[in-house]
Amino acid sequence: MQNHVGIAHTRWATHGAPSPLNSHPHASDSTAQFLVVHNGIVTNYKALKAMLTGKGYTFETETDTEVVARLLKYLYETVREGGEVLTFSRLVMHMMHALDGAYAILVRSTLFPNEVVACKRGSPLVLGLKGDVRELPSSGSVEVMRGSLSEQAGYNTTINGGGRRLSAGGSAPGASTSKRRKLATGEGLSPVSTAVAVAAAAAGSLSTALNGGGSRPNPTTPKAVTASPALHNEYFFSSDACALVEHTDKVVYMEDNDVVHVDAAGNLHLYCFGAESGAVVTNRVIQTLELELQQIMKGSYDTFMRKEIFEQPESLTQTLRGRLVKKSTGPATSDGTGSGFTSVFPLNDLDMDDVPFEVQLGGLNERMSDIRRSNRVIFVACGTSYNSCLAARQTMEELAELPVSVELASDFLDRRCPIYRSDVCVFVSQSGETAETLDALHYARSHHALTVGIVNCVGSSISRLTDCGVHLNAGGEIGVASTKVYTSQVVVIIMMALLLSSDSRSKDARRAEILRGLAQLPSRVEATLAAVDEMMKTTAHKLKDQQSILLFGRGYQYATCLEAALKIKEVSYVHTEGIHAGELKHGPLALVDDKMPVVLFASCDATATRVHNALSQVAARGGLGRMIIVGCDGDAEVMRYKDSATLVLVPQVVDCLQCVLNIVPMQLLSYHLAVARNLNVDQPRNLAKSVTVQ
Ligand code: F6R
Repeated sequence: MQNHVGIAHTRWATHGAPSPLNSHPHASDSTAQFLVVHNGIVTNYKALKAMLTGKGYTFETETDTEVVARLLKYLYETVREGGEVLTFSRLVMHMMHALDGAYAILVRSTLFPNEVVACKRGSPLVLGLKGDVRELPSSGSVEVMRGSLSEQAGYNTTINGGGRRLSAGGSAPGASTSKRRKLATGEGLSPVSTAVAVAAAAAGSLSTALNGGGSRPNPTTPKAVTASPALHNEYFFSSDACALVEHTDKVVYMEDNDVVHVDAAGNLHLYCFGAESGAVVTNRVIQTLELELQQIMKGSYDTFMRKEIFEQPESLTQTLRGRLVKKSTGPATSDGTGSGFTSVFPLNDLDMDDVPFEVQLGGLNERMSDIRRSNRVIFVACGTSYNSCLAARQTMEELAELPVSVELASDFLDRRCPIYRSDVCVFVSQSGETAETLDALHYARSHHALTVGIVNCVGSSISRLTDCGVHLNAGGEIGVASTKVYTSQVVVIIMMALLLSSDSRSKDARRAEILRGLAQLPSRVEATLAAVDEMMKTTAHKLKDQQSILLFGRGYQYATCLEAALKIKEVSYVHTEGIHAGELKHGPLALVDDKMPVVLFASCDATATRVHNALSQVAARGGLGRMIIVGCDGDAEVMRYKDSATLVLVPQVVDCLQCVLNIVPMQLLSYHLAVARNLNVDQPRNLAKSVTVQ
């Protein structure tokens, strides 16, 4: 490439169908004076569009992003007409002043060749650094947009049409965008990357850009934090660190209202766009990514989903590592478990029996007494993360002896759920960026609840904004369908419950039983994978032309039904319903006939008798032939059906952890179904890995 600055975007359609016309970047006009990629949603785009239409601009697409590109042109011309000398970053701040919603935006311009400006509010943005930049100066004054500036721009946030007239000489807006440049996302970019810009400065372009003279406005002295000039630096912007890991391991997680300007000389300027004068740029620390490139490669697997399903013995080991501890009399250990504790995991089962041990979660230590004193615990999450909270709720209620509720983040927000200072709100998320979960976190913070994050992505917004939390340590998850993170989430919530009850002697025996189960979990998952993979492939071939599958379970397995149903529907597009077995006769039984495939989770726990009743009721309405029963190896009750139904047997563990094993054959079933139906397993239609827009 001749150019050393590029912007590209893998778009998840919010406004307008996925089509070449609606694809990013969007241009301000036929000359592509301004080019924009944008992740998020501009909520006031209709008002902006109406205002710009009134000024003579025309639009070709249905996207909110095209409005942003046109707006930049309008602001550039109007602000300059008002006499203000505009730098590129200052122009972007004018744009931010006008936009409502959540966004991360990258802008290029023919007026500022070889430069790029990035800004963020609400949507994630990570800056990757490669080259000589070792640190960002820690603080500085900010570029403050005062009301007067936006008035100069003929603009205010409530569009009232009162802006300045466009200058007569202004170039015609809204002409064909056919000439606009579209950079393909590079080969090998992670499928989760949603926006990437690269600015690798070269000495040659330095003089060209700076001496360009006439066409370029004089920059005002930037009151910005500026990294040392470096001609051979490379900068990368992305919504997700996974997309950067093949280029660099040095990243800065941008905060809301940050504006980053990479100039043509390769200098990085960091501004904070604030409405109040006197605000300062807070520390922006360069962090080292722990994510390894091999974690985001498929290795010998054909898909990420299959790789991640088979990684579960290792991901669970990583989730547990250093967190199962025994009290030691010796000095503090260096494994992060803290003073007075020695890690006892991984050890073999025999050692586990010999050693009384407990849970240690360093990230919760300081707030543990506050959590114990709280009036209730509210888990908030979406999708699979929500299901993991449901799976562990009973254990949390039993051990912590607190009222526990589990909320879908979107519903929690719709209801404006009453939240108090005495509440603990736990936000569970793989990405740590899910828009609804993040909004729910802001809501809980505004009500002064104690906020806890259970997150896989280190450095993500949820992990930064919560008061305390636990990282899942499950490793990068690339497949859109969450698998290994689900099992790690269940394990972390159960560890949190164990920790909350650690001072209750009456629960010692129960805790010991669960702790032993945790220590055995990775090897039990490994045994399950080996035992059921082929069988699930055969079952998938039998089911591949079915329209619908029903899944029943109760107690700890209710969440397993929901999660299995979600997994199957999202990757194989077969309609599924996860149903509480207790609800059968209240409606769903009407769906059952001798053709409808039914999966039933029949574990050996307190609900076993009631589950077997449900099984009999389903069997009575069409026989056992199309039933798949997921049960425990050696359970005599289940073995009775070995000749009449499809039996999927998994090893038995303590009741509250059985869900971790039971979901494994269902993950494999969904994978094999998608393969059998010739579908893209890792990137199901209409879905994205991180859902950063509402
Ligand atoms: C389904 C799946 C989604 C996510 C949901 C929340 O397999 O992955 O349902 O669980 O979008 O995402 P996170 O966990 O990143 O908040």
